[in-house]
Order: sequence, then C-alpha cells, then structure tokens
Amino acid sequence: MYTHRIQSAEDYHSAVQQSRENPEAFWAAVASNLQWQKPWEKVLNWSFDPYAVHWFEGGKLNITENCLDRHLAERGNHTALLFEPNDPKDRARRISYNELFMEVCRFANVLKRNGVRKGDRVCLYMPMIPALAVATLACARIGAIHSVVFAGFSAQSMADRINDAGCNVVVTADGMSRGAKQLPLKRTVDEALEHCDTVSRVIVYNHLNWQPEMLDGRDVWWHNELEHVDSHCPAEPMDSEDPLFILYTSGSTGKPKGVVHTTGGYATYVDYSFRNVFQVEPNDVYWCTADIGWITGHSYLLYGPLMSGITSLMFEGIPTWPDAGRFWSVIDKHGVTVFYTAPTAIRSLMAAGIDHVLPYNLHSLRVLGSVGEPINEEAWHWYHVHVGKERCPVVDTWWQTETGGIMISALAGVTPSKPAHAGLPLPGIQTVLLNQEGKEIEGNDQEGYLAVKFPWPSMIRTTWGDHERCYQTYFTAYKGYYFTGDGARRDEQGMYRIIGRVDDVINVSGHRFGTAEIENAINLNRSVVESAVVGYPHDIKGQGIYAFVICEQLPERPEYLREEIYETVSTAIGRIAKPDKIQFVSGLPKTRSGKIMRRILRKVAEGDLSNLGDTTTLLDPLIVDEIVAGKV
Ligand code: WT7
Repeated sequence: MYTHRIQSAEDYHSAVQQSRENPEAFWAAVASNLQWQKPWEKVLNWSFDPYAVHWFEGGKLNITENCLDRHLAERGNHTALLFEPNDPKDRARRISYNELFMEVCRFANVLKRNGVRKGDRVCLYMPMIPALAVATLACARIGAIHSVVFAGFSAQSMADRINDAGCNVVVTADGMSRGAKQLPLKRTVDEALEHCDTVSRVIVYNHLNWQPEMLDGRDVWWHNELEHVDSHCPAEPMDSEDPLFILYTSGSTGKPKGVVHTTGGYATYVDYSFRNVFQVEPNDVYWCTADIGWITGHSYLLYGPLMSGITSLMFEGIPTWPDAGRFWSVIDKHGVTVFYTAPTAIRSLMAAGIDHVLPYNLHSLRVLGSVGEPINEEAWHWYHVHVGKERCPVVDTWWQTETGGIMISALAGVTPSKPAHAGLPLPGIQTVLLNQEGKEIEGNDQEGYLAVKFPWPSMIRTTWGDHERCYQTYFTAYKGYYFTGDGARRDEQGMYRIIGRVDDVINVSGHRFGTAEIENAINLNRSVVESAVVGYPHDIKGQGIYAFVICEQLPERPEYLREEIYETVSTAIGRIAKPDKIQFVSGLPKTRSGKIMRRILRKVAEGDLSNLGDTTTLLDPLIVDEIVAGKV
C-alpha cells in the first residue's frame, strides 16, 4: 500500500489501481502520514445527492501540530519561512521552525485574550509578510476559522465577506508595499467596518510605521498585545470535519461564496498532493509566488510546505519591480529549488525579454510549476527553456478553490508533462468528461465537461451559511458528479487539457470573477442603465474584461465616464476587477424573451466578426451592426 511518495511510473499506476479498488484503504494510508491526536473511526461517509461528505470521522488532529510541533525535535532550527521583502535593499528574514512555533503560539494567545474562541471567524486583511502566516496558523492553533481576504479587495468587498461569515475579529496592518505603490490597509478596514456590526476587535500589525488612527476600545496594536501573553498554547483538538477556513470565491451569480474547508481531509490531501506533485526533498527552498489571500497561497505556500517541514519562501513584492528581473534575482539570491507561479506572470516576464533572465544563476532550480489558468504553448516553452534551461520538469497544475488541492498535474519527473496540458489526475482523483446529457464520455481523444465522480479528502464541504447553494452549484448540473465548471479535452494518452470555463466566470490573471458580479458593480454608477460583461483573449492576463455599457445618454466625453466606471468597480470589488475595455452602446442584443445573447458579445469582444451566427431571432437585429461598428 502506498504510504510515502510516488517515485516512478509503476508506483503511479499501482497507486491509481489501489485507489480505485479500495479507496478507503488508500486514503487511510495517505492520512496516516499525518499526526493525529485520536485515530478516525470511519474513513469516508458520502453522498453527492443530497451533498454530504465526511472524511476520517471521529479522528482528531490540529493542522498546526503537523506544520510545526512535529518538526521541532529534528528540524527545529531549519528555516520554515524565508521572507523576501518588497524592496530588495531591505534585508531578507529567516524564521526557523522553532521561532515560527513560538510566534504562532504567542499570537494564538493574543487572539484568545481578545475574545476569539474555537469556531469563531477571524478576518485577515494583511500584506504578504510573515505576520500573515503567523496569524493564519494562530487561528488554526485555537480552532478559530480564518477568512483571509486578499488585500487587493476593496472595503466594500471586505465588508461583504466579514458580514457573510460573521467575523468578530479583524487582523490587519497599517499599510502595505507592492512595488512602488503603498496601500493603506488599516484605513480600508475602518471604511469596511462602517458597514459591519459583528466586529468587536481589530488587531493592527505595525509594518510601515504609519501610525494610523486607532479607535479606542476597538483597535489594539499587535506588539502591545504580545507583551501580555506567554508562548505556551496547546493545540486545540479539532474534529476531522471541524471547519479550518472559509475562502470567498466568485461564481456565475453576483455574490461571491464562502468555500468551506475542514481540517482532516484538507490536511491529508494538501500534504499528499504537495509532496507528490513537486517531489519534495528535505532541503528544498520552495517558492510559491501566490498571495496567501488565494487558495494557492493557503495550500501551497503555507500548509503544504510546512507540513513537509521544508523552507517556504514568502515574497512581499511584485514580479516587475524594481525591474522585470526580480523573480530571477530572488531565485539566484536564495537558491530556490522549486518555483511555482502563474502563467500571467510568465507571459509578462516573457514580454519583458530574455535580457532580464540572463544575468541570473538559475542552476538551483529543480522543478517548475504553473497554476491558475491555462498556460499557452509559447509561455510553457519559454518557461521550460529560459527559466528551467530544459533541465526542470514543468508541472501544470489544475485545481480550484473548491478542490482544496491539485487534482490534475504531472508528478514532477515521474509522470509525463506536455505543453498546455495539465496531464493525468493524481491517484485517488476520479475525473470524467461528460456530454451535454450528463453521460460519461469513454475513451481518449475526446472533449467534454470536466467532472469528478468520487469524493476526495479536500473537497469543498459547504458554502458558508448556505448549504443548498453548494449543492445547487456543484452537484445538480449533472446528478452524481461534482461539476467543475471547466471544459476539457482528453488526448490520445488520456492527458487532460483544460479548455476553460463553460459558465459565466472570467479568469483574469488567474483570478476568478463572475460576469454578473462585475455587471452589478458597473451598474452602481449613476449614469449606467445596464451592462453586459464578457471575457476576451488577452496576451498577458489570459482573459481580459470587456464591458458593454448602456447609459441614459451616450456620453459626450466617454473617457470621463470610463474613468468613473473604473472607480465604481474599484470601490465595489477592487482594482483587480477593472474592465480592460468599455464600449458604450445604445442597446444589447437580446432575444424576444429578454435574454442577452452573450455569444454575440463574446465574438465581438474577441474580434471575430466574420461569423456572428443567426441574429434574426433578436428583438432588434440592427443593434448588432452598431455594436460591431463601435468595437473598442
Ligand atoms: C479555475 C479555478 C487553483 C488555483 C488557482 C485558481 C482555472 C486553474 C488551471 C490550469 C487551466 C486552470 C480553471 C479552474 N485553472 N488551474 N492549470 N490550467 N486552467 O483557483 O480561482 O478557484 O479558479 O482556474 O478554470 O476552474 P480558482
């Protein structure tokens, strides 16, 4: 039975076989790599209709014991977090497992002192600095449910997330630096909290010495609080199915949903997938460039690497500052061995030119990874040749916030990689392609809707506060399957190529937005009557946001209104959701029943004007000519 690492093609095939013949025995063996406080009684209890899965019921554990305590005896002095600050002139910082353990325990005591109890929700709105890792782990230590909100989201978005989860504490910092820019995080929290009733405490980390306003009775300084606590904090015994965190993500409806992950299954699958996909070795210096505000940062910057006991590099800055060589200089400086980033970053650095790569020594690299969106062949080759020098396997990892961990990917150097293909599913993951009728498509060289037919330990358990929504969104499109929302192709060898979303979700630079969510934001602008948003291919971002906007009157100075709409969207969601293109139109192509024909808008946005299909069923076919003529 498989217990540790899959190291050859034969291992892979036998693990796949074992996982199919006896899934419970397979996952029990995987889970026994973790330290449990109490063994489980039942490996798996499940139904997709209605939806309920329970993994390792009766088992108790705390994920921080697996991330920290477990390593102290043998690797206490090994670097856990290697912090590279925004400004290359500032010093990098190494935090050993011993130190991280102590900092987590102390901050966990700060949380307790400030009224946080097991099961409470804590919102984290922080820069990419070690304090964010400490705060996240401190929540897990005491059984509080963390809800990390990416610091690029607006006050309004944060308020929505705080209210939905009913958080009682917010942890933030005075401000943050990203490249040449600085952002006032604490001020944004203050704005958000004007719309929240549940928060009684804000804990502020002093990062930039900005001395923000502190509200008496509500706001306290992180460093002052530390003076009142010691570093003894036993790990809260968590039921395997106790929630570990909530992470909000966009779907095809207007309101982001709180994806809930629980403790035992999430820990098991993240640990398993991390070690196998990256073929982790004890002295790896592993760098995942994602922000902890996204699922990639949760699973593969924080929890996965720490459960493996290796060094995880945490970078505060951006790939293009002070120049487009920053990633490569950091790899050179710290001897990074495994590098995991997003296609959008690769494409923008590719566009900056090879001269930014050449000055640096990238010989330490052993494995390269890609995540978040399809990687086009050109970017894949550039990554493979100019960064990996054709020595490093490239793993293109397909997964989702809802899946908790990597589902389809090569295991570095063990199973085959192919440009633009995620590859084979991990052992234990039963992916299928479905046709329109929801029938499984057998055999290879086929295309369909990507679904999963058997549970895996780190799958979404519910959407916070609304289990019905979870069931409706993922388990009703095709009865008996988890539906991913992606279309995919299986090639002659059974390797999957992800084609992209088949729902109204746009993936911009690896970030997910619902078209309805952006439309709602645009419609908040007083001059706007209606809008329709579609994605279109974008050289760097993968997909760009194209908005068709109807105003009361066509604006005389469209550039002013455009700026105003950017502001409206930035306020409602955040700068990251700003449309790339806005076209003012006098109407939208609608059917007689009032449904917007997005297919036509997509074609216009893509610039594919030759074949707009049948427009005769439209209420006003002439509107299409106007839209085509006005394309931006
Ligand atoms: C959607 C999930 C999970 C990491 C970050 C994104 C797309 C993700 C790939 C890939 C092609 C990919 C899918 C998926 N996606 N990875 N390797 N190849 N597409 O998480 O925000 O939950 O988005 O990202 O469309 O459904 P997310």
